Amino acid sequence: MATYNKNPSSNFVSIAIMALVFVALVSDFANASSITVWSGPGCNSSGQIIRNCGCSDINLRGGYSFIYNGQTAALYNEGGCRGVAHTRLNADARMCSGFGWKSIFIQC
Ligand SMILES: *[C@@H]1O[C@H](CO)[C@@H](O)[C@H](O)[C@H]1NC(C)=O
Repeated sequence: MATYNKNPSSNFVSIAIMALVFVALVSDFANASSITVWSGPGCNSSGQIIRNCGCSDINLRGGYSFIYNGQTAALYNEGGCRGVAHTRLNADARMCSGFGWKSIFIQC
């Protein structure tokens, strides 16, 4: 019978767990909340995806689609996320006509 040595297999297990944690972190990052904004009504014109954490100005205001993946977002009627948040999103939301928000803060 071959001698059984515990260490190599427990090393393998901990490396496998580390690899799984890494994959989970990377896919979590790839699935952060994002908002797509469009220049005109219909959500069918040229668009822009915003997925950065923190504050981003919104330059296209013809429609939006927010995909919630765990990070809430606050929308502001002024640029630079100044003033009071007008709307908070903590679920998928979509509207394919004009809106007034000028900036978004994604809380990561
Ligand atoms: C996009 O949607 C708008 C509003 O529904 C519509 O008037 C327009 O024809 C659509 N454009 C295209 C290219 O489908």
